Amino acid sequence: MMTEEKLGKLLEDMSLQEKIDQMLQTAGSFYLSVSREALLGNITAFGIPQADMDEAGSILGTDDAKSLIDIQKRQMAKQPHHIPMLFMMDVIHGMRTIFPMPLAQAATFDPELAEKCASVSAGEAYVSGLHVAFSPMADLVRDPRWGRVMESFGEDPYLASLMCAGVVRGFQGEDMGESGKICACVKHFAGYGGAEGGRDYNTVQLSHPTLFDFYLRAYRAGIAAGAGMVMTSFNTIDDKPATTNEWLMRHVLREQMSFNGVLISDFGAIKETVAHGTSEDEKDAARQALTAGVDIDMMTGCYAANLAELVKEGKVSEKLIDEAVMRILRLKNKLGLFENPFRGADPEKEAKLQLTPENRALAEKQAEESFVLLKNNGILPLGAGPQKIAFIGPYCDNRNMISSWAVTGRADDTVTIREAAEKAFEKGAELRFEYGVPTLGKDQNYKGFEERNEADRIFADVEKNPQKHMDAAVKLASWADTVVLCIGEHYLQSGEATSRTDITLPKRQKELLSRVTEVNKNVVVVLFSGRPLVIRDIAENPAVQAILEVWMPGTEGGSAIVNVLTGKAEPGGRVPMSFPYCIGQIPVYYNHFSTGRPAEGHEEERFFSEYRDAPNDPLYEFGFGLTYSDFEVSEEKLSGTELTENGTITALAKVRNIGSREGTAVVQLYIQDVVGSQARPVKELKGFRRVTLAPGEEKEICFAVDEPMLRFYDGEGNFRSEAGEFRAFIGLSSRVKKSAAFRLIR
Ligand code: NOJ
Repeated sequence: MMTEEKLGKLLEDMSLQEKIDQMLQTAGSFYLSVSREALLGNITAFGIPQADMDEAGSILGTDDAKSLIDIQKRQMAKQPHHIPMLFMMDVIHGMRTIFPMPLAQAATFDPELAEKCASVSAGEAYVSGLHVAFSPMADLVRDPRWGRVMESFGEDPYLASLMCAGVVRGFQGEDMGESGKICACVKHFAGYGGAEGGRDYNTVQLSHPTLFDFYLRAYRAGIAAGAGMVMTSFNTIDDKPATTNEWLMRHVLREQMSFNGVLISDFGAIKETVAHGTSEDEKDAARQALTAGVDIDMMTGCYAANLAELVKEGKVSEKLIDEAVMRILRLKNKLGLFENPFRGADPEKEAKLQLTPENRALAEKQAEESFVLLKNNGILPLGAGPQKIAFIGPYCDNRNMISSWAVTGRADDTVTIREAAEKAFEKGAELRFEYGVPTLGKDQNYKGFEERNEADRIFADVEKNPQKHMDAAVKLASWADTVVLCIGEHYLQSGEATSRTDITLPKRQKELLSRVTEVNKNVVVVLFSGRPLVIRDIAENPAVQAILEVWMPGTEGGSAIVNVLTGKAEPGGRVPMSFPYCIGQIPVYYNHFSTGRPAEGHEEERFFSEYRDAPNDPLYEFGFGLTYSDFEVSEEKLSGTELTENGTITALAKVRNIGSREGTAVVQLYIQDVVGSQARPVKELKGFRRVTLAPGEEKEICFAVDEPMLRFYDGEGNFRSEAGEFRAFIGLSSRVKKSAAFRLIR
């Protein structure tokens, strides 16, 4: 490791442009091309001169260890001080072994497991030579129309904070310089999830108390867990793009959150402030971003082309550049790059250590824990013995279940439902398979998404002969004792730039559902989606006996689904983001404020805060999820009714398994701050436990309640509690009603 002094010397020795180029990040693809012409063509499109490319400090994305080693060698030879480059990549929910999408990970209510999975991803990324994962995404979400909710940890700041910190620890371990560890990048700072109308990149309007108390919490947790990097967001905060928002970056991120790592812009975000209409031109954008404290310009030439001139003109101080470059050098140093610029990168180890049976087993476990059983009239788990099961739908034999964000993963590695089912069911069970319809109709064009072709290939014949395939599906449904209908969103319908206004099941699949349920009344829906869909039509269909939400489950999706269908594993997930009753209800989330006219208790009256044509509550609320067992939670007890500033009281309840098989309950503690100097949520999650109980077994679950738990952020970012009345709720979802009261006294 270099000493701080040595790093300082290195910095002193660098020319101004050399320093500025450390702040430039371009794409790996620019360097991978062997043809210089093709290379220049690409670069020209981004307006970055070759000289800066030759000295760029970091790269976004490469193919594998071999090309990474090659690029690093060539670049270091050109860089005047032979400073190694940082290689960064979107390792979002897995490198080669793909875990369930992040929102599904949140559904596990199991941050330790998420930490283990991130640690596996780090190990797999390490042998490919990567240094930074652009993960976790800490953006709080309340609007499922936003396609990126799949990459979030849902609507609850507490759960999202634990998940976010867990993922950071998983990637970085105790020391990101250790073998098998890489740097995490918490993104997108800040408030990206608040896009108006759920339209990606749209304006964000958040009051300061809401920003601090809800939206900033998970970033803060990721930073407190030691994240080495933070990424800016595209949106505005206080009517100013976050990327050039000095108050947000200098005051909130650097001072209040004590973040001293590297701050990178999102892709093109510095330049985009021109389109926002808050920068005159790219030069002005560069000035503002540097002033705000952004260290790396991702994928534009704003810094490379303008910072030197800005220094000369006295419009920015070189000191700001020095500070930024020092942070970048420190990160390279922490990762041990000065000693070993190729750290980890090893084609042989890539082949050996990625996608191992152990990694696959962990992906399978996390998938099982992430599935949420939304409805079950007793049909699940499917019994053993002779039976005729029809697997119908576009996902029954389809590998495209790793999400649009699994950019380093390969659909080909994925186990399909069909493959898993054919292995799992005992002799005597007769299984048959039919697609019925493709995931999407030809009318739904996913512009800009090349991968569509893959789906086209699978469904080519279905598209050519739609009637034949629909008829075959219906015929199969009438043959079967049970239909497992594997349907849902296309994997390209969620992820970045996939906002939608109609988040119900794709049209052709609605038709399939309706035709199948006409002829078979024992239908299990296995629902794939990147977001909570609006599924009232499915839930209310009397032939649908069960709904299992499986999200985008990853490489071991098929095996995990079959394990859960057969009862080999339990569906372990709970709703991490409300499933709206209807689209018009959005945004709907459990931790809302009360109004002056709460509708509860006034259902028959007029002038209260409610819809005339829909309930206020979502269809499936945060924290909800059925199991193959049943649980009863006793009346809650508190060890005292007065909490002092340094004291603790215990909130406890007994949980009993009243079902006939072993099961896991997710016991949740919510607290309400009854009166506050600013509006406080009707309840907030403050603790949870996953408890596995044998049939008839009972356990007492205790939560310690102390004063820091009752603190909230005000509009200035102060974290404090207020004396007065609180209520504690212990239950199995956010809809829990019974509570016990206590007071915080000073
Ligand atoms: C844009 C996305 O918003 C961000 O999350 C991602 O890390 C970068 N592109 C790099 O791919």
